[in-house]
Amino acid sequence: CPACGPRRPFCRNNSGCDAVTLPPGSRGAFITFEGIDGSGKSTQAKALATALGAHLTREPGGSPGAEEIRRLLVEGDAGRWSPETEILLFTAARRDHLEKTIRPRLERGESVVSDRFADSTRVYQGVARASLGGLVDILHAKMIGVEPDLTFVIDVDPQTALSRGLARQSGEDRFESLGLAFQQELRRGFLALANSYPARVQVIDGNRTAADVATDVLTRAVGFLNGPDHG
Ligand code: ADP
Ligand code: TYD
Repeated sequence: CPACGPRRPFCRNNSGCDAVTLPPGSRGAFITFEGIDGSGKSTQAKALATALGAHLTREPGGSPGAEEIRRLLVEGDAGRWSPETEILLFTAARRDHLEKTIRPRLERGESVVSDRFADSTRVYQGVARASLGGLVDILHAKMIGVEPDLTFVIDVDPQTALSRGLARQSGEDRFESLGLAFQQELRRGFLALANSYPARVQVIDGNRTAADVATDVLTRAVGFLNGPDHG
């Protein structure tokens, strides 16, 4: 299609292109990926952002200030920070990410795809690392106050995910180093989260090839963006 070219799934030319179309003037969408470490979130976030022509970002990080905070969080010993300190650092990073990257782009009509967002804090700091769900909710309400339009939880067997994650040898293994039982607890947390927010959160079977998962994700994202809940 001459109008949409590489953005084909989101063609805005309503005259003859067979691509799925978005209503004219529709606002940018905020889509997040969640799941345990090594589940394939980064791979899928990148694929979806490319397919949608959306801005790809990540947490912790996504703005220059938040990337500096990221280094404090993902490197070093597992016990380096208390869960309370972690919540404050993740929330500080998220606030900067929201102010400097996410909100300005959404307001310009761009779509944003983020590899993790507030659901990670709900599950890691609220459930798995500590039972601090109440504190997480208060800080989220006061400092962030935004939910994604759509969230994909990539659900993968924790043993598979752990071996995928550690095989990367990224030097960012502070959380992976907490082991298999921790990843299993996280998985339960993400599945419970999907039950709590059924309209927003979709669980994707990540135990397939990356290409098959990406096709499933894109189909669902296009369905959502063209559906009654978005526009
Ligand atoms: P996450 O962001 O959830 O930690 P990544 O996308 O970085 O996960 O993937 C972790 C590792 O597993 C990477 O080396 C990636 O290439 C690989 N990987 C991602 N998706 C799949 C898949 N569906 N099957 C097999 N390996 C995968
Ligand atoms: P990430 O780089 O996404 O890790 P991975 O690619 O291994 O999934 O995130 C770094 C770590 O930070 C990861 O173990 C999850 C953790 N994390 C939290 O504990 N709370 C949060 O709010 C976020 C955003 C991440």
